[in-house]
Amino acid sequence: MGLAEKAFLWAFSWLDTRFRIQDYWGMSKDSYHSMHRQMPLTHAEKYKLRIIWYWYPLYCLGGISFLAFIILVITGTILGFYYVPGGDLESDPTPAYASMEFIMLELPFGYIIRSIHHWTTHFMVAAVFLHMCRVYFTGAYRNPRELNWLIGVALMFFTIFFGYSGYLLPWDSLAFGAATIGINMAMATPLIGEWVANAMFGGTTLTGQTVVRMYFLHVFVLPVIVTALILAHLFIVWVQGIAEPH
Ligand code: HEM
Repeated sequence: MGLAEKAFLWAFSWLDTRFRIQDYWGMSKDSYHSMHRQMPLTHAEKYKLRIIWYWYPLYCLGGISFLAFIILVITGTILGFYYVPGGDLESDPTPAYASMEFIMLELPFGYIIRSIHHWTTHFMVAAVFLHMCRVYFTGAYRNPRELNWLIGVALMFFTIFFGYSGYLLPWDSLAFGAATIGINMAMATPLIGEWVANAMFGGTTLTGQTVVRMYFLHVFVLPVIVTALILAHLFIVWVQGIAEPH
């Protein structure tokens, strides 16, 4: 046995005695084979369809939403290296606005990265909405897919909230206008209004704290929630397969 093989076996048995890799590997292989896995066959093959249903192109919309999300994560991570979440209204320009100016005017390819992030957001909101319409009009929300529909409703809400929180981050006059509408809507809500304004806008009036709050929601809280929901959503699609269109 060569040195490389010996090192591999040593490392593998070291990990296996601690993490039971072989047992878990065996278990996941068994469950893989026992599930109704439709992956290798296309839908048309599985159900012996002789015509390609004319709605089929619209079945890409879920995948397009997912692709948009991946692009947003990548471009957002790059923007995150340069963006400064400072909305202190005393300083002119605010640190947030100054960092946006830096990204747009000085950072090499900065304006391209920001534009891709901006336009992919619009693209994702549209794709998620149209995907929801496709699911509705093909009746794919029915038994047994009710839970995935509900996860989808949450994803639609969080996608829009993602867009809104990002819109506030440049802290320019558009952001300030949108934040004013948002906080007024929150404050106009009976009973929980003040609590919602504090939780989402960092107070009952707009301050520098609003930007920090939106920033943390945008780059940590929402990504964690949306990633978990997308994984659950896709796992359920994988287990249940795509709904039959007839
Ligand atoms: C981030 C947002 C979303 C992503 C990435 C996503 C992704 C996907 C993907 C890849 C599929 C496989 C079939 C297809 O592509 O059409 C799917 C199916 C499904 N989605 Fe979504 N989706 C999202 C939002 C939604 C929304 C807003 C709803 C409804 C309120 C929804 C409900 C469903 C249902 C019920 C299925 C099963 C459809 C079938 O079996 O034909 N999804 N989703």
